[in-house]
Amino acid sequence: EKGTYPHYMLKEVDEQPFVIRKILQSYQNEKGELTIEADILNALNEADRLYIVACGTSYHAGLVGKQYVEKMANIPVEVHVASEFVYNMPLLSKKPLFIFISQSGETADSRAVLVKVKELGHKALTITNVAGSTMSREADYTLLLHAGPEIAVASTKAYTAQIAVLSILAANVAKSAGIDIGFDLVHELGIAANAIEVLCDSKEEFEKIARDYLSATRNCFFIGRSIDYYAVLEGALKLKEISYIQAEGFAGGELKHGTIALIEDGIPVIALATQKAVNLNIRSNVKEVAARGANTCVISMKGLDQEGDRFVLPAVHELLAPLVAVIPFQLIAYYAALHRNCDVDKPRNLAKSVTVE
Ligand code: F6R
Repeated sequence: EKGTYPHYMLKEVDEQPFVIRKILQSYQNEKGELTIEADILNALNEADRLYIVACGTSYHAGLVGKQYVEKMANIPVEVHVASEFVYNMPLLSKKPLFIFISQSGETADSRAVLVKVKELGHKALTITNVAGSTMSREADYTLLLHAGPEIAVASTKAYTAQIAVLSILAANVAKSAGIDIGFDLVHELGIAANAIEVLCDSKEEFEKIARDYLSATRNCFFIGRSIDYYAVLEGALKLKEISYIQAEGFAGGELKHGTIALIEDGIPVIALATQKAVNLNIRSNVKEVAARGANTCVISMKGLDQEGDRFVLPAVHELLAPLVAVIPFQLIAYYAALHRNCDVDKPRNLAKSVTVE
């Protein structure tokens, strides 16, 4: 039940700190270490390449998961949109392992790939919020998200849960390969949960951003680089699906190869800056669009912030930045939709689980 909340989406956004803590509890052993079942870890260790397959928001979480597995555990990962993969399969490595990410576990496009790769004799792991869902039953292994029921059509807490579980998966693979990831994931996820709580308490800031930047626009751009690029793809999807503002996420450096032609006076560009290695680069991309009249809104992370940034996120481990950066995006989308009298929980043309291909 949504209780005192006006919308399920807002309730589900607010639940995110608890979801991260629930995941920590659920995946910790008696010694307090984050673990996954031995047979899943074996399957991951035996693979020479992971193929993550998903749709929509779950695909965006998969992109972040690729970073985790590659950066922490040194195993190559490909991430594919399910509806493309099924009809245009890439060449597979010798020992592939498939990872399906699906909140519902019922998405037809993703399931079609699962059925196909099982037919080909490959092993599959489903990461889902719904124990007993079709894709959980049909895969060899399941990891649960423990996010609780997600009712609003726009996925929020499932995304943060997917990212948290993918970080645990990557850290486990790294550990069994004898790789030191160089930080304490339990501790860092705890810090991220606290940071999300702080952001959920800053709703009026995000309502103001929605008002200042999005009340009179038909289009909006989101830019980021490195892992921030994946986070902005999700920011753009949230905004378009519930507010019907045309929103696109771009890699900051790619703008000048075409998209910058669309920048004109007053167009909102929301830029994310949470990654030290590319902070200066994204800053120059912001200058490029500002010089062409864009109404720029920089959301940065504490420690990388500069004068004029519209909002500064609490500091978290760089790899976990998408967990916190998505909260402003979800809330900005929520308020933009509200200001436009859109049906936040049930946007037009969309269904919670897409069971047709
Ligand atoms: C976006 C959204 C969709 C789903 C997509 C996959 O807010 O809800 O993009 O993420 O349809 O759904 P699942 O994860 O259930 O397979």
